[in-house]
Amino acid sequence: MKDTLLKIRDEAELAIEAPGADLEALRIKYLGKKGELTAVLRGMGQLSAEERPVIGALANEIRADIEAKLEARKGAAAAEALEAKLKSEKLDVTVPGTKIEVGKMHPISLVQRQLEEIFLGMGYEIAEGPEVELDYYNFQALNIPEDHPARDTQDTFYITDNILLRSQTSPVQVRTMEKKRPPIKIISPGRVYRSDAVDATHSPLFHQVEGLVVDKGVTMGDLKGTLETFAKTMFGEDTRIRFRPHHFPFTEPSAEVDVSCFACGGKGCRLCKGEGWIEILGAGMVHPNVLRSCGIDPEEYSGFAFGLGVERIVMLKYHIDDMRHLYENDVRFLHQF
Ligand code: DAH
Repeated sequence: MKDTLLKIRDEAELAIEAPGADLEALRIKYLGKKGELTAVLRGMGQLSAEERPVIGALANEIRADIEAKLEARKGAAAAEALEAKLKSEKLDVTVPGTKIEVGKMHPISLVQRQLEEIFLGMGYEIAEGPEVELDYYNFQALNIPEDHPARDTQDTFYITDNILLRSQTSPVQVRTMEKKRPPIKIISPGRVYRSDAVDATHSPLFHQVEGLVVDKGVTMGDLKGTLETFAKTMFGEDTRIRFRPHHFPFTEPSAEVDVSCFACGGKGCRLCKGEGWIEILGAGMVHPNVLRSCGIDPEEYSGFAFGLGVERIVMLKYHIDDMRHLYENDVRFLHQF
């Protein structure tokens, strides 16, 4: 019986020391109610009176031994686990951090800001108007009556018969003149909408910047000087401008304004399609009917106005050949500006 006990001890010790030992299973196996040690103790009845206390003492000693071994191994396992956890979670404070991506200004916003800067520098104020607009402001007050063919050139999103998404920023001219007496000197940047199919040069939503100056004695010369200053600041000192006669219902006379090609200087290249000139905006002297509809006497005051498409300038400036790039939000594209 002594041998059996010693054998149990040796076996138990080996099992406890084995790597990855399941200590709780071993405790049950050797020390549990149905364990090996208990089984031996059950047979003690057969022993002689002399042998019994000796074997009993040995059995207790072995139980204590195995318990102590289990405890020690448990402690070591916990320490090992903690060590491993600390190792795996080690924080190296000298490793460079993950860079937080900082957003960039969209090229449309970039150019719009630039346009604002230029005109603010010339003493203009910024005016705003609603994108959901009345037919009256978008058309009628701008000298475009209901059946005027000029309406067809701006495919308009109607909400009701007389409410629409503004197709131009020009209604802000009227809203400003209704509220303010001359001298007036404003620009109005903003979104406009037209029911155009999307292609390389069209989008149902785009941006314009409107300009309006009304005062006593404002002439076409002032308009030319203003646009020349603008063009030189925007496209470079060598830029020239030219006016081509045109028709807008809300200006008289009206002109389309070109700048000399800033890529080739006017010799003709791919950007200007061999023309040497690039059209950038519409302009003219405010029509007397428009002044009148805002309660401003055209005998006393005169003014000029202009309107430009921001996308067009962005595309020219950055040599972008397809307008859709501006709206697809591909960060690879947007990161270039
Ligand atoms: N509103 C015109 C358009 O969208 C652009 C324009 C032309 C605005 C002449 C003006 C102007 O103020 O005088 O086509």
